[in-house]
Amino acid sequence: MKKIGIIAALHEEIAILLDVMGDSAHKVTIGSRDYYQGNLYGTNCVVVLARIGKVAAAITTVTLIHEFSVDEVIFTGVAGSINKSVKVGDIVVADNLMQHDIDASPIFPRYEIPLLGISRFRAEPSINQQIINSALYFIDNKLVNTLDSNSIKKFNLSSPTVHTGTIISGDQFINSKSGVEHLREAIPDALCVEMEGAAVAQVCYEYEIPFAVFRTISDSADDSASLDFSSFLLNVARFYSIGIIKALLENKQSG
Ligand code: ADE
Repeated sequence: MKKIGIIAALHEEIAILLDVMGDSAHKVTIGSRDYYQGNLYGTNCVVVLARIGKVAAAITTVTLIHEFSVDEVIFTGVAGSINKSVKVGDIVVADNLMQHDIDASPIFPRYEIPLLGISRFRAEPSINQQIINSALYFIDNKLVNTLDSNSIKKFNLSSPTVHTGTIISGDQFINSKSGVEHLREAIPDALCVEMEGAAVAQVCYEYEIPFAVFRTISDSADDSASLDFSSFLLNVARFYSIGIIKALLENKQSG
């Protein structure tokens, strides 16, 4: 039976998953992280809180592969939009990921991972298609009944869009107009920015493990990025994560 590693950076993003696993989850602590192995909607999963940043994400991904022999890795969490067509409440599924803060130039080309020879890591298209279908199912059938109406109004979540494209990662929370503009100019096709996905992607690439990263947009990475962050995480993002993963594992998909 397939075993899936599920990672998030923030507690809120996996809290409900752990509740659902309940007593079926067996906790193993390795390298200061708790890995919960058990049954999630009929699938053998290992759920873990990586904490924030690329190093944390890389350590966690290696452990999932080495100690738990997962067959695939899925990362869920929030991100800041850096593309005008990507709005708060939308979902971005990465088809490729880059580390926007890697720079060994002029020894190696900007953005290239030194001695690996590539700058972009491709996510597994077949998992992506299932996540896209699951996200559409969640939006069409579950969102309105899952979120409270105040949050739907406050964050304008009447009809979120599912995007597929480039996600960029770096060890910075981007919260300034100039920061967003700099990233837009540097990597024009990037849809959103976060702090872990491309590290998970690099580890999975090097270990030849299929992976996917999907993100709910929590902010626009500008001066207001941190304002509603906690409220969004608590009232919106954690329900997106569980809703989409539930649909994915139960194979309930639109499209
Ligand atoms: N995750 C969510 N919002 C983010 C931002 N603005 N910058 C980096 N990571 C994020």
